[in-house]
Amino acid sequence: MKTVPPLTVTAIPGAAPSSSPIPGEGDAGQGFRPLSDMEVRARADALIAEMTPEEKAGQITQYFDFLSVAEEAARVEAEMAAARAGSLLFVHDARELHRLQQTAVEKTRLKIPLLFGYDVIHGLRTIMPVPIALAASWDPKLAEQSQAVAAREARAVGIHWTFAPNVDIARDPRWGRMIEGAGEDPYLGSAMAAAQVRGFQGAGIGTPGTIIAGPKHFAGYGASIGGRDYDEVNLSDSELWNVYLPPFKAAVDAGAGNIMSAYMGLNGVPATGNHWLLTNVLRETWGFKGFIVTDAGSAHDLQTHEFASSLEDAGIRALIAGVDMEMAPPFGTSAFKTLPKSLAEGKVSVDAVDDAVRRVLEAKIRMGLFENPYVDLDEAERVLNDPQHRVVARVAAERSAVLLHNDGGVLPLNGAVLQSIAVIGPLADSARDTTGPWVFDQDDRETVTVLNGIRAKVGKGVRVDYSPGATMPARLHKSIFDSSPHKEVPRVQVDDDAEIRRSVELARTSDIAVLVLGEEQLMIGEQASRSSLDLPGRQQELLDAVLATGTPVVVLLMAARPLDLKGSKPAALMTIWYPGTQGGAAVANLLFGDVSPGGKLPFNWPRNIGQIPMPYAHLKTHQPRTAGERYWNEPSTPLYVFGHGLSYSTFTFSRLQTDKTRIAVGESITVSVDVSNAGEHEADEVVQLYIHQRYGTAARPVRELKGFERVTLAPGQTRTIRFKLQPHDLRYWAASTRSFVQDAAVFDVYVGNSSAASLAGTFEVH
Ligand code: NOJ
Repeated sequence: MKTVPPLTVTAIPGAAPSSSPIPGEGDAGQGFRPLSDMEVRARADALIAEMTPEEKAGQITQYFDFLSVAEEAARVEAEMAAARAGSLLFVHDARELHRLQQTAVEKTRLKIPLLFGYDVIHGLRTIMPVPIALAASWDPKLAEQSQAVAAREARAVGIHWTFAPNVDIARDPRWGRMIEGAGEDPYLGSAMAAAQVRGFQGAGIGTPGTIIAGPKHFAGYGASIGGRDYDEVNLSDSELWNVYLPPFKAAVDAGAGNIMSAYMGLNGVPATGNHWLLTNVLRETWGFKGFIVTDAGSAHDLQTHEFASSLEDAGIRALIAGVDMEMAPPFGTSAFKTLPKSLAEGKVSVDAVDDAVRRVLEAKIRMGLFENPYVDLDEAERVLNDPQHRVVARVAAERSAVLLHNDGGVLPLNGAVLQSIAVIGPLADSARDTTGPWVFDQDDRETVTVLNGIRAKVGKGVRVDYSPGATMPARLHKSIFDSSPHKEVPRVQVDDDAEIRRSVELARTSDIAVLVLGEEQLMIGEQASRSSLDLPGRQQELLDAVLATGTPVVVLLMAARPLDLKGSKPAALMTIWYPGTQGGAAVANLLFGDVSPGGKLPFNWPRNIGQIPMPYAHLKTHQPRTAGERYWNEPSTPLYVFGHGLSYSTFTFSRLQTDKTRIAVGESITVSVDVSNAGEHEADEVVQLYIHQRYGTAARPVRELKGFERVTLAPGQTRTIRFKLQPHDLRYWAASTRSFVQDAAVFDVYVGNSSAASLAGTFEVH
């Protein structure tokens, strides 16, 4: 086997986020004075007093505006010009947004501006790593900063509101939308939810350069049966309160201005018609003050779900459940448009309609749209092209990659001694895949692919050969995103037999082979569930053929779910997710050690699809000693555990202490630990704190994340990290009492760099 000479890296800067520019932060909050609730309400009520039932129903209806589909655009514009639309989604061109707003503000009777919503999920022009990647950074500040950039670009072109963050917990990797969330854990998910809300909204709704955040999909969508998108969800009381609801609660506490109700039925009751969920929990228990929008067509779906008896009934039941705005079905019939008829027939009260209208108008007033409905087109161009946004995107991609495996320290590569690199794989030079799904306004020409990133990094002195290796297979069923204009970029089609042979030849004659494998852009995301975790097409065969050459192989996974490499062991394996506009530049910096990987898995990585679901926070059950032997054919343990991720340095943990050994119910306790960089390079580590309650009102998971901090340490440096465990960290929902409880019990604490941390201590709550 050919080996690459030992690699020396001289400097690995920590790329601390605080040292990076934070676009939006300078202006966010400066001189911003939110309007008083009383003033906002009075202004909204004055408008409501002037509105006809049709205008009210229109104000709480949001239409899709597909400019590409002339008939639909004409229909929507007619509605809008007649003041029968309060909001539009899917318009993202600054000139078009300006033109539509002019119609609303200058040509309609009450001159109420439109609220423009859009799926700004991980960037508008500057594409950030996908949300699961941001979660893998375990760096909430980075997630906040990334979404602040996204918000700044969106607001500059005239978008006011994003349908993000997606805060759905996902424990089933068959579900494609796990890419949009923060993974399987409620604590990490809550931290990321709150951070993203802060990023989008700045100091509060109406902060210059920010947009309204709309956490979604309320609630439980990630648990769709069989991982099949849109399908029903059946969740126990305990799972709902302890796992699926906490990120929503965190987003509400962070001040989210909007919430989107989910498509599916939760325990038999469609989420969009679920009064308990939308009103009892969200409004009454949590005190949510913003407006609730349905998912696209999900009010209409109440009839589809065989819950409502007619379209009128669907409109009434969605409204009464707590919905304020209907995202009308594209090309379909709006349920809220039937509200004037239901009002006239006395089937719904004027107050119920007015409450919804008021919440929508209040959002517009807070956003300052009545004073400032338009955008500055020159400023929009400047903001979209801000080079600092690209810096944030690159740092985000660097900080979110997770190094899963690194045999004999094959990484980082040493650019000074390498003479040739074979870059192989269908995703290695694909701009559209590098940016991931949910992107519509990115510039493919400026996107740095992995191939281009490597080429730029090594310069002319190193031979870099490229082979796509294998063709990405087509989906069996079409994607709803197939028709997006930029997705018409043709895919590379190769003769797989010949190309695999060529890849092998390139690998054989190179010092190292870097394979970029995974799933293409439309194999993940909405309507992209999958019944397998295998590498699509002939990528596995390609990998094995290249491995057989004996040339050291680095595999970079461009994916957002745990893929199954069938036991094939490249020398190094790193998941780079869909790293965004600057992805290739970031990956090159990681490969060559300019920065050390510091990301950690936000989910357990199963050995194969038969093992799912496999959350790390499971309960201790009968014969715990054989917990890893539940299958007779293979270990029933994950391949890589939640929280795992390697670095180019090594870290040690010591002196785990608690400030008290006993606390009373309702008191807090501080856990501290020393973390030291025992390696030779400056690098990041994520210090993770887990707890385990030994007994109580209900059985509790073997481990639960309750604190984390990402730190940058110089070689030899030690830092003491402190975590405060508060009463709310120790309480949980008990199905037996149907309430939150905090037990008097003994707790174990574990601290380290993954959910398998071994440094342990205990404390008692009495
Ligand atoms: C349906 C998706 O479920 C939702 O997340 C998205 O925001 C809307 N479509 C609008 O695109």
